[in-house]
Amino acid sequence: MEKKSFYITTPIYYPSDNLHIGHAYTTTIADTMARYKRLSGYDVLFLTGSDEHGQKIQRKAAEKQITPIEYVDKIVASFQHLWEKLNISNDDFIRTTEKRHHKVVQDIFQKIYDQGDIYKAAYEGRYCTPCETFWVERQLVDDKCPDCGRNVEIVQEESYFFRMSKYQDRLLTYIEENPDFIQPVSRRNEMINFIKGGLEDLCVSRTTFDWGIPVPFDPKHVVYVWFDALTNYITAAGYLDNREKFEQFWPADIHLVGKEIVRFHSIIWPVILMALNIEIPKKVYGHGWLIMEGDKMSKSKGNVIDPLVLIDEFGPDAIRYFLLREITLGMDGNFSREALINRINADLANDLGNLLHRTLSMIGRFNNGMIIAGTDSEDLDRELLQLAEQTVAQYEKSMDEMDINAAIKVIWALISRTNKYIDETGPWALAKDEAKRGRLNTVLYNLAETLRIISILIYPLMPITGPKIWAQLGIAQDFGTVSLDDVKGWGKLPAGTTVGKPAPIFPRIEDKPVEAPSVAEPVSAPVKTEIVAQPALDTPEITIEDFAKMDLRVVKVLAAEKVAKADKLLKLTVDLGCEQRTIISGIAKHYAPEELVGKDVVMIINLKPAKIRGIESRGMVLAASCGEKLTLVTATDMLPGSRVK
Ligand code: ME8
Ligand code: MG
Repeated sequence: MEKKSFYITTPIYYPSDNLHIGHAYTTTIADTMARYKRLSGYDVLFLTGSDEHGQKIQRKAAEKQITPIEYVDKIVASFQHLWEKLNISNDDFIRTTEKRHHKVVQDIFQKIYDQGDIYKAAYEGRYCTPCETFWVERQLVDDKCPDCGRNVEIVQEESYFFRMSKYQDRLLTYIEENPDFIQPVSRRNEMINFIKGGLEDLCVSRTTFDWGIPVPFDPKHVVYVWFDALTNYITAAGYLDNREKFEQFWPADIHLVGKEIVRFHSIIWPVILMALNIEIPKKVYGHGWLIMEGDKMSKSKGNVIDPLVLIDEFGPDAIRYFLLREITLGMDGNFSREALINRINADLANDLGNLLHRTLSMIGRFNNGMIIAGTDSEDLDRELLQLAEQTVAQYEKSMDEMDINAAIKVIWALISRTNKYIDETGPWALAKDEAKRGRLNTVLYNLAETLRIISILIYPLMPITGPKIWAQLGIAQDFGTVSLDDVKGWGKLPAGTTVGKPAPIFPRIEDKPVEAPSVAEPVSAPVKTEIVAQPALDTPEITIEDFAKMDLRVVKVLAAEKVAKADKLLKLTVDLGCEQRTIISGIAKHYAPEELVGKDVVMIINLKPAKIRGIESRGMVLAASCGEKLTLVTATDMLPGSRVK
């Protein structure tokens, strides 16, 4: 059977400046879709590149007293470096200064001219150089560019015009008959209104500067940079030099762009293609903007975030995850360091990281690292298994609709459910009873199998983490051969697999907040950790002020481990909301370490610190006890740091 094909593009960015996190956002979405489609068995063409001509670039180079090509070469190299760091899997990188592209632009300009759709006339109007956009006076807002609000220049020159007006009705009919062509629907409505307002013929050449592709029959003119740039999508698909490839990949499946350039892609571009009798792309998707302090992030506003700095600090997968998870596709979204750190800590270090760590350490401890086929299944398992199957189906549906946010949400619902499954099945208790071996094996197998499925599902979003989890699970199959079929049907994890040592995939990020809630001075009232017998109810009376001296808080257990050579002691790392602490607790006889992770317990935080076995313990968790029995006081669904009084 012939392979299905998928062609996705990003805008080709201007190498007028280095790229910022907004550009990384677009490219990450496109990369995620490309990887997903490859996983689903498609032949993928994923294209990005650089839009190198035009007045803006020529001026920038002149400011630096270098040639335009010297100027762009350096910046384009930095684009390519960024995409490597972010693990962008583009199949091609097109530069509009390449020969293959020149040929196509000149070829189609000539064709359209020959058929009478390009004509020469005098142009007088306004031009926004940062946007490389022509405007007529009535379109300006307060005399400024209606798109970016910057100053425009008066342009008066002889130019070639493209007869857009001729195609107005055909374009409107096309958009109306193809409801999926422009997405989201809000953008579609904007475009319909714009066209209904009347399409004017477009000025498609300039003579007042020369950094561009010469008009073939009149080389005083260079082709208008947007006409040149949009053409990149057919150049790279092989329009002139590889007919077979062109037949396979054209029309493009998705042109992914920021909302400010939907107009160029859904009006000018389709009309160029109509004039050439080439099929229209299937979809133009206009996503929202990354906003910083209420304003669109852009170099000229000086509020940009450098993605390379973030990647160096947090790693590429964390950045990719944040961009894909935090910002609803199609909407504007805020970028904040705080939100990024919260996502890393909550979703990656806690939910995903803990699930992996708990699972591998239990398989290590209880089964010598071996994943063994279970013999004893319960209803709870069927529930998990069904959820895993539903997750795969919903994930696939959402990804096919490019609803990446929804796809991520279903994966994380499965992760949460699986963490809960550990608590419900209590493998540490099963491990104590030889008669429950079969049951223990089933539970551990199910955990590892769920993680195997998760590692595949997250791969398009996090191309390092997916294979990393796979490797820690010790699966022999090469991750490079994995496809979406490998998550269809439960139980594909071979029993007998030996897992690797758990290594943290996302360490928690400590970023001290500006305002930490005040913590009262420690009082020196040592409280015993363990109460042996039920005490008599004759404790001396205290006042409310006495009681108020105790600062009791809800804390989340982040990590737990045994203290070497101390069979009663556990070392806990707990989250107080604004800081983390280490405490030593004498509860090892009652709780297995992995059982505690993720629990919200109550702790006295202003107890005088004590050194226990050489470790400083700063606080004490509260537990109810009676004889041999002991239970930690928990506070489900409360944020860490909440006061208990
Ligand atoms: O427009 N938030 O290039 P460009 C989200 N060369 N995305 C953002 C963003 C932000 N704050 N800022 C930029 C051009 N982007 C033309 C394209 S295509 C034939 C020619 C992303 O360097 C978004 O995808 O100005 C936007 O459309 C693109 O970068 C603009 O990049
Ligand atoms: Mg721009």
